[in-house]
Amino acid sequence: MPLLQLKNIECYYGPVLAIKGVSLSVEEGSVATILGANGAGKSTILKTISGFIEPEKGEIRYKEENIAGLGPQQAVKRGICHVPEGREVFDELTVAENLRMGAYLRKDRHNVPADLERVLGYFGPLRERYRQRAGWLSGGEQQMLAIGRALLSRPRLLTMDEPSLGLSPMLVKEIFKIIRRINTEEGTTILLVEQNARLALQTASYGYILEVGRVVLDNTTRELMENQDVQEFYLGVQQESIRGKKRWKRKKLWR
Ligand SMILES: Nc1ncnc2c1ncn2[C@@H]1O[C@H](COP(=O)(O)OP(=O)(O)OP(=O)(O)O)[C@@H](O)[C@H]1O
Ligand SMILES: [Mg+2]
Repeated sequence: MPLLQLKNIECYYGPVLAIKGVSLSVEEGSVATILGANGAGKSTILKTISGFIEPEKGEIRYKEENIAGLGPQQAVKRGICHVPEGREVFDELTVAENLRMGAYLRKDRHNVPADLERVLGYFGPLRERYRQRAGWLSGGEQQMLAIGRALLSRPRLLTMDEPSLGLSPMLVKEIFKIIRRINTEEGTTILLVEQNARLALQTASYGYILEVGRVVLDNTTRELMENQDVQEFYLGVQQESIRGKKRWKRKKLWR
């Protein structure tokens, strides 16, 4: 039984259909990823799961329950937490205050100090800047803060939208090391959207390819990395160099 299952989800922005008939599932304890071009609907899927968008059709099964349309507070209460694209930390608040906001809805307040300590263990720079305003942090530190704040809600499922956006290669490496640790050490299930397809496929065990609002391909990331279309369109590998044959051209890329 997967932790999360989307069944035929359809979302609109006004009259504009953004995702149509999207079905996917995420196993408990795993890292799954969604790849797709700009505008494919990746963020829409994550926002729908975390309750920020109500789907027009379809089901979001989380454990035994359909949570579609319950809203973000109910999602957080059930252990679903979203790290949005562009971080969105509270600039005027300190690092400490931002982190505590993450624990806002928790009933088990007595566990919060220990969790705070663990988060500061993952993200050293946040400890150094604990009393400083979040607006003064660098982009990478703000990303750490956004992830740290999400962790303080004690998520069972973490949805992450483009965590590497705007960060230097070294910081990206660092952040992804921590994302893997969160998965293995905390046992947190992660659904990851990431422009860096290679990094996403190396981090996740299962992947979905999204094209204009539809899932066109899904498989284990091991298989996806072997897939010619994925290699060509997401990993930038030239087919000639792989197969020694004339470049393979098709009008329709996917099934
Ligand atoms: N607030 C909005 N109002 C109207 N249309 C929107 C809105 N947000 C997204 N869309 C449209 O819905 C579609 C899916 O957008 P979404 O942001 O989910 O794509 P994405 O895959 O996350 O893209 P990117 O890689 O650029 O982040 C796009 O066609 C987009 O233009
Ligand atoms: Mg997006």
